[in-house]
Amino acid sequence: MLLIKNTKYYQSMTYDFLRIVVSTLLSFSAKLNNTIMRIKMKTETIRKTARRNFSERLNLAKPFIIKKHFLPLLKPYFLLIAGAVISLIIFSLTSLTLPYVLKIAIDDVLPNKNIRLLTVGIISIVLIFGIRLIFFYISHYLTYYTSQKILFDIRRKLFQHLQKLSVRFYQTHRTGKLISNVITDVGVIQQLISSTLINLAVHCFLIILVMICLFIINWQLALICLVVIPFHAANFLYFKKEIRKNSLVRQEKVSEISGNLAEILTGSTVVKSFAKEKTESKHFITDLRKLFDMNLTIVMQGVWSSTFADILVLIGRLIALGSGAWFVFEGHMSIGEFVCFYSYLGMLFPSIVQLSSLSQVIAQGSASMTRIGRLLEESVEVEDEKNPITTDSFKGNIEFKNVTFAYYGKAIIKDFSLNIKPGQSIAFVGQSGSGKSTIANLLVRFFDVTGGSIHIDGNDIRKYKMSNLRKNIGIVQQTPFLFSGTIFDNISYAKDGSSLEEVIEAAKKANIHEFIEEQEDKYDTVVGENGVNLSGGQRQRLSIARTLLKNPDILILDEATSALDNHSEKEVQKALEALMKGRTTITIAHRLSTIKNADSIIVLENGRIKQQGNHNELLSKDGPYKELYLLNQEGEHDETKK
Ligand SMILES: Nc1ncnc2c1ncn2[C@@H]1O[C@H](COP(=O)(O)OP(=O)(O)OP(=O)(O)O)[C@@H](O)[C@H]1O
Ligand SMILES: [Mg+2]
Repeated sequence: MLLIKNTKYYQSMTYDFLRIVVSTLLSFSAKLNNTIMRIKMKTETIRKTARRNFSERLNLAKPFIIKKHFLPLLKPYFLLIAGAVISLIIFSLTSLTLPYVLKIAIDDVLPNKNIRLLTVGIISIVLIFGIRLIFFYISHYLTYYTSQKILFDIRRKLFQHLQKLSVRFYQTHRTGKLISNVITDVGVIQQLISSTLINLAVHCFLIILVMICLFIINWQLALICLVVIPFHAANFLYFKKEIRKNSLVRQEKVSEISGNLAEILTGSTVVKSFAKEKTESKHFITDLRKLFDMNLTIVMQGVWSSTFADILVLIGRLIALGSGAWFVFEGHMSIGEFVCFYSYLGMLFPSIVQLSSLSQVIAQGSASMTRIGRLLEESVEVEDEKNPITTDSFKGNIEFKNVTFAYYGKAIIKDFSLNIKPGQSIAFVGQSGSGKSTIANLLVRFFDVTGGSIHIDGNDIRKYKMSNLRKNIGIVQQTPFLFSGTIFDNISYAKDGSSLEEVIEAAKKANIHEFIEEQEDKYDTVVGENGVNLSGGQRQRLSIARTLLKNPDILILDEATSALDNHSEKEVQKALEALMKGRTTITIAHRLSTIKNADSIIVLENGRIKQQGNHNELLSKDGPYKELYLLNQEGEHDETKK
């Protein structure tokens, strides 16, 4: 009974097991089929995109970019490169001796039992090995040293160029993409220069030298065997071109992903507040899948290239074996020569296969060079004139002469003229988008005017050395930016080598000292990325302290107190008024209470001056200022009621 029960139990278990296995196999095969279909379709799509995108980029991907930006970088290292090449030649030469020693052993030592020759052969091998080791070290050291130096130069050149590029460039290029250029693309080039180029050079030398040896041993046999070489070259060139094309598209995708990533991470609070985590994850995963497919395509192209190379090697070896044997049978070569020939051939073919596999890295490297080259081709929009005026200070006379300015063809500032005397305090008011911040940006040359001119102390600002101009103008921006260091680092950023006392003095004036003292680490408190550990008002006061330490001749306060409460605002206002004394100040404010004492108030409307005068003059007339003032007062009453 028990036996029957057990048998039944085992039967049903076996049945279940088989059922699971069969269904798993079926679903697996369906999945596999789907995946293959998907990969096929995606590969086709990628190919099509690559073709379309590549034709658009062809003008930028031309080798001239590489010639223009990368070849000159090699010049200073000419001697080091020459040293590396010579030691590589010697290193490669040593590999060629072994087959020849083998030939002597077979043809001379073995038949004649020549012990002396054998001893000489062994000693020579030891000596040659010693030389090989020395030149292995020298060639690798020189190559790595030089490649690291070149990379250092590429990164420096790229960073310096990025620093020169204008505000407009940064507004139109995503930060994440740029980071990907500096990190990923330079990384790919690093791989290319430091490891691939050594291999490339070694294998190229070996191929040439081995070919010479083959021709010396038996040129007819060499000619027969080398018939496969053009096919190897075609294989290498074809896949290099294909992989380069796809690598360009792939690197663009990587940039796009890092651009998205940077944005999502920076805006994580927005993502969370709209509960968009799942949507963002989906987008990210879709992007990753696309990248996965592209990588697969590129790797598979590399694999195909190596496979073809392997097939060609096999064909070459078979030809060598067949025709070599025939040569020996016919007495055209000795057995030693045949063994030597075959050993050289054994060195030649792996080098050729290696070259084919290098095509992937070379292609990716040249794609990255193209992308970096494109960045280096970006023209510097706002730059110094040839012989700029240098100055340590300004008196502070500012004159706007019929200034016009447009962002991408859209006029923002129209025929704007204004004369500000040294030490005067001017305020700009006006509706949001009327162009107040734009005027401040024009004064520090974040952008250059599209018409008219701006003069400081009688000279067009474009004539001043830009660093001088910006050092003498302090700007507290509407949305202050803080670096992720300490409070001390952030304030002292304004003045190289500033002491703690100076920093404390500035902080006191900006009404932030007490807050800092309350912190456990005081001035060494870390503020987090863009000051996330601080409140909006604290960030703004830190940025005011930073500008106070700079002690500029001309001061621009763009909504500098907008994030402060009424109490702090009054305190900071006092500090700012003290600071404004004796220097030309432009204040941009929505709260009119902060600009009541300005010498002159400019009311802007759509980039034009609508009204101008001091507070009392403007209030006495009907017009936009009075309207703004009444609106402001209503707002303030509402706030007090609350
Ligand atoms: N980088 C930019 N590219 C294109 N248009 C821009 C850019 N920056 C500003 N603008 C446009 O220029 C106009 C003026 O902007 P601006 O920042 O000078 O206004 P604002 O008076 O300072 O406003 P707010 O009081 O809101 O700060 C706006 O219409 C804005 O859309
Ligand atoms: Mg503004």
